[in-house]
Amino acid sequence: MDISYSEALVVGGGLAGLRAAIELKERGIDVVLISIVPPLRSHSSAAMGGVQAALASSFMGASDSPCLHYQDTINGGAGIADPAVVDYFCHSVIDSVYQLDSWGVPWTRVSAGERILSDGRMIVEKKDNHGKITARNFGGTAQWRTCYCSDSTGHNLMRAHLRRSAAVGLPIVDRMQALSLIMSDNTCEGVTALDLRTGKIKLFQSKATLLATGGYGRLFEYSTNGSICNGAGQALVLSISGGTLSNMEAVQFHPTALMPSSVLITEGCRGDGGYLYNNKMERFMLKYAPEAKELASRDVISRSMILEERLGNACQGDSGSHFWLDIRHLGREHISTHLREVAENAFCFAGVDPVHDLIPVYPAQHYTMGGIRTDKSLSTEKYGISGLFAAGEAACWDLHGFNRLGGNSLGETIVAGEFAAVTMSDYIQKKGSRLSVSAADDEFGKQSERLLRLEKQSGKPGLSYVSIISSVQSLMSRYAGVFRNEEGLNTARLELNRLLEQEPDAAIAGSFSATSPETTAALECRGMVKLALAVVGCALKRKESRGCHNRDDYPEMSEEFCKRTLCRWNSISESIEIDYEDISPQG
Ligand code: FUM
Repeated sequence: MDISYSEALVVGGGLAGLRAAIELKERGIDVVLISIVPPLRSHSSAAMGGVQAALASSFMGASDSPCLHYQDTINGGAGIADPAVVDYFCHSVIDSVYQLDSWGVPWTRVSAGERILSDGRMIVEKKDNHGKITARNFGGTAQWRTCYCSDSTGHNLMRAHLRRSAAVGLPIVDRMQALSLIMSDNTCEGVTALDLRTGKIKLFQSKATLLATGGYGRLFEYSTNGSICNGAGQALVLSISGGTLSNMEAVQFHPTALMPSSVLITEGCRGDGGYLYNNKMERFMLKYAPEAKELASRDVISRSMILEERLGNACQGDSGSHFWLDIRHLGREHISTHLREVAENAFCFAGVDPVHDLIPVYPAQHYTMGGIRTDKSLSTEKYGISGLFAAGEAACWDLHGFNRLGGNSLGETIVAGEFAAVTMSDYIQKKGSRLSVSAADDEFGKQSERLLRLEKQSGKPGLSYVSIISSVQSLMSRYAGVFRNEEGLNTARLELNRLLEQEPDAAIAGSFSATSPETTAALECRGMVKLALAVVGCALKRKESRGCHNRDDYPEMSEEFCKRTLCRWNSISESIEIDYEDISPQG
């Protein structure tokens, strides 16, 4: 057996995982980070728009404060954000932005005489702010607060974190697919993982384990997310006795996914002054949100688009329904400096040049507010599991409630990553040095059997794991999208249960290799079906509309549901159990 021992283990090489691991290392903790992909390929790299932080250094954000940021985030969360978490975040993220500045993040800055176009008006930045970190306008915010690096903020943050990781000597083991949590009674002592280079199972045993594995967006067919965002961490938690997930029905749809690829076109386009048109070339958002217009929050715009489509006002093209995003009036210079990846992606994936052409866009799944339930110190202890922590999109600590504001997730990865490391250090100091040998042995045995079974079944005719996953994705996009209703959700639940029953008979279609993408998919398949059942079950039970969760049959928000949803997997009945919990400022 190949075992690595460490005091702390971080699973996930995106921003939350890297930030936590760097902090642990700097605190003198012996930490190892494992990642399914080389970290720069993590989904954090794809984040475009920026980080909300009330620096108050841009002209249009001059009277900003953490209190205004708090108010916007609470309003966005539709009653489900935890005030204590939001307060902590809005204050901490300011220091995080300056810290990242000192790590070399090339924030876009106020330039002398910079002209900004907003809603058709030219605004000139104050020259005495020259050189300070500037901010762009994002939806649902009272001030311009989103700090950015052109439109590749995530990529720039990742590079800074990787430089820092190298400087502190952080051990990063990539191409490791986490297979299961090593549980000794109710304590997590690391993970088993498949080495995607050698096909061998490795054990990473540790006193404290952080899951920073991202969201579950790829349960949906149409998503701005990378293919690794398939809920791996949430599925690990759902598979252990008592493992608790939260607010799984809270799934965000971004209104401007490029058609037909669903690649993200940043909200920065509308923040910088872009317009949305329907098939009559009307700015339809003037009708749905006369004040905020194209900068209403994402849930409002995505809903408005579907309502327009129902009125027959969506454009129809080769790739289906869409609307138009227009940034032509921002001009070539602005597009090539502030929106250069938008220009590149629009050209590569849709063949349009935004300097001259309209961009075809439509809502697609973008972010999952639900995830692994933690308390406000990012530990799962209160929910029955010791030694386990979660941060970033993998976790649900109620920062975003039922609708995340654009620019609040990149900031969350940094703030929560750092904070999780502090909590883990405290836990490690208190925990004795013993780790269970038999728990590790047992888990190694179970995972070896699982691989052996896949090998034996491979090549068998019939259903493949890949086809089960694509059925899950199309069911979710069809029935659990921007608008949901009882009939559709019940259909999805029935079909998902059928897939769950069929899964044990599925097989890898070709010949077996432990390192092939099909084996990776096979190992993820059952967990993805269960997570989809969690989303659908929670959406069915929440008989109201709130934030991103819109029920055609229950269009109003209901006081009865002003609670967080908790869910666990019952392994006897093979079904999801759902419960609610009050949201208190005490977390
Ligand atoms: O539109 C965007 O750039 C997305 C930003 C975010 O989701 O925070």
